[in-house]
Amino acid sequence: MFQQQVVFEMQSLEGPEVCSCCMKRARCPRFLFSSPRIVKTMKPFPGKLCICCVVLFAVAIGVRRSNAQDLAVLPTSAAQSGDTSEKIELGKMLYFDPRLSRTGTVSCNTCHNLMEGGDDARATSMGVDGLTGPRNAPTVWNSVFQGSQFWDGRAPTLEEQAKGPMVADVEMGMVGHDQVLSRIEKIPGYVTAFRDVFGPHDPVSITNAVEAIAAFERTLITPNAPLDRYLGGDENALSDAQIRGMELFESVGCTECHYGPALNGWEPGDDAEFLDFPRFTESELIEKYDLVSDKGRSASSGDPGDDHYFKVPTLRNITVTAPYFHNGQVETLADAIRVMAITQVDEELTDQQVADLESFMKSLEGRFPEIVLPRLPTKSGATVVR
Ligand code: HEC
Ligand code: HEC
Repeated sequence: MFQQQVVFEMQSLEGPEVCSCCMKRARCPRFLFSSPRIVKTMKPFPGKLCICCVVLFAVAIGVRRSNAQDLAVLPTSAAQSGDTSEKIELGKMLYFDPRLSRTGTVSCNTCHNLMEGGDDARATSMGVDGLTGPRNAPTVWNSVFQGSQFWDGRAPTLEEQAKGPMVADVEMGMVGHDQVLSRIEKIPGYVTAFRDVFGPHDPVSITNAVEAIAAFERTLITPNAPLDRYLGGDENALSDAQIRGMELFESVGCTECHYGPALNGWEPGDDAEFLDFPRFTESELIEKYDLVSDKGRSASSGDPGDDHYFKVPTLRNITVTAPYFHNGQVETLADAIRVMAITQVDEELTDQQVADLESFMKSLEGRFPEIVLPRLPTKSGATVVR
């Protein structure tokens, strides 16, 4: 570590020693310290430093560390007890199976594409029969690190969330969960798999199906991003621009809401963080991107106090999940950053600041696990989609 490499040396005033850092612009060594002058040698620094500069360096490092306190390393596992490999594999099959949709064309992966950002790259998603809903598909990568699911947080858990899309008319469009289960029951390989995982008593149920899907989703995490390596002590993991961006992210106030391992204001054991958006309503960008027609959380909670409250979303892998915001109206990350700065912290950023923040966001791209496509069981000689 940088700080541990500081070694003390006592030097006499008479010597030719001058501080390599401030010799050209300050006379602090002469004025502040009498003989013997203390000079420190910093290993990564070519030359010697006076005590003033060492203190300044230490403060700068301390400030940088305190900036990083709001940010946290993404855990390398999110498995829960009971997440057996068989359960995860069953969840993966259900996740990739379009036969769980009315038309046999739409799976979870259609809108949360794991070959890419875990979303669908569209402003708002397209489900069965080309129908579209009002909201943008959030990524499923790292969704386990959220205190609640959906833009308005109306589902408390991944399991509760997964019950929704199969029967949402603009998504997978099934008439009800019974229709989903009767399709699954017609496929012998599924019945065997459910029995192997959940035992012989009523194995094919919606509770068990979503439990398996959630177990699979808990494997969809992307640790070891450059930021994680930096926070773990690798000073070289971030570029200068990324460090500038990280410092600005803190100093301009983004971390008021975007903190914690997923930068979504959530840490294990907490409730999800909901904040008003837009908070400062003067900007013309609000109308341009239609950021106020969706009332957010109040539509599901029924509480007018929740008007325009949204869950703070994760910023992990944000570079690969354009377009942005609950309505997907903002096409580029640079513009999303400008919108946030104006609407949430009342700051108009320079192009350089936007570029630095965007560089920092690049440091949130983690390592994506390799996923082998599952072989889906079939009904021999017949289709189950009618
Ligand atoms: C037609 C596209 C579509 C399909 C199919 C679909 N989703 Fe989604 N998903 C969305 C949209 C849009 C949202 C956000 C809706 C909202 O917030 O109101 C969402 C939200 C989510 C979230 C919450 C993420 C967050 O950050 O809050 C998870 C998790 C998720 N879906 C998983 C699934 C799973 C599992 C399936 C399959 C059972 C599935 N989705 C099927 C479009 C889809
Ligand atoms: C007061 C809380 C708050 C502050 C401060 C804040 N954000 Fe946000 N951020 C949110 C909320 C809430 C959303 C979701 C908005 C929505 O409904 O689309 C969001 C969304 C975003 C998104 C888009 C996410 C996506 O998946 O589409 C980005 C990027 C972002 N914030 C970056 C920033 C940056 C950079 C800053 C600092 C300049 C910042 N935020 C400050 C609360 C905040």
